[in-house]
Amino acid sequence: MRFLLLVAALVGTLGCVRGCTSSRPPIHPIPNMDDQPRYEAQAASDFFSDGMTMRTPVAGTVARNPLPLATWTDSRFMTGRDAAGEPVLTIPVAVDDALVIRGQDRFNIYCLPCHDRRGTGRGIMFERGAIPTTSLHVQRIRDASAGELFDVISNGVGLMPSYKYPLSPSDRWAIIAYVRKLQAEHDE
Ligand code: HEC
Repeated sequence: MRFLLLVAALVGTLGCVRGCTSSRPPIHPIPNMDDQPRYEAQAASDFFSDGMTMRTPVAGTVARNPLPLATWTDSRFMTGRDAAGEPVLTIPVAVDDALVIRGQDRFNIYCLPCHDRRGTGRGIMFERGAIPTTSLHVQRIRDASAGELFDVISNGVGLMPSYKYPLSPSDRWAIIAYVRKLQAEHDE
C-alpha cells in the first residue's frame, strides 16, 4: 500500500516525463520577450472604433522614400524587365542632369572602390588582389542593355556582390545613366 502511494505521489509530482501530451504550457524560465501582446497586420480590432488594427497615417504624412505610384507598379522600373521578362533596352526614367549627378554620387560610393573612378576595373580589388574586375568600357558592356546592367547591380555577378539593398531602383537607374556618361566620355 505504501509503495503504491509512493508511486502515485511520484507520478503526481513528476508527471509523465516523456511521450505524453499536456494541456499545461511548458515551463519557460527565461521568457526573452518570446510572447508579446500585439496585433497582427490587417487584423480586426475591438479597441478602435473603425474596427481596424492598422491606423491610417495622419493627413500630411510624408513617405520616407517618395515614389510616384506609377513607378512602384511599373515592373520595367522596379525589375529592369518588360512584361515578357526581357531586359529593357533603355533607362525607363527621364535622364536629366540631376539623375546623372545622383548617379555619380552613388557610383563613387558603391562602384568606384572596385571599378575605379572611370570604371576601368582597376580599383582596389584589382590593385591589391589582382581580382579581374570588368572594365565598364569594354564593348560587351557598352552594348549591354540598360536592363542587363540593372540586373548586374541588383543581383551581382561572379565575385561582384548584389547592390539591391543599399541602392533603391531609382539609384540603380541613376548609376546606369552615369555609367553611360563615363562610356561616352572615355575610351577606357
Ligand atoms: C566589391 C567589388 C565590386 C563592386 C563594389 C562593384 N563591382 Fe562590378 N564587378 C566586380 C567584379 C569582380 C566583376 C567581374 C565579375 C565576374 O565576371 O566574375 C564585376 C563586373 C561588373 C560588370 C560586368 C558584368 C558582366 O556582365 O560581366 C558590371 C556592368 C559592373 N560590374 C557594374 C558595377 C556597378 C555599376 C557597380 C556599382 C553599383 C559595381 N559594379 C560595383 C566587382 C565589383
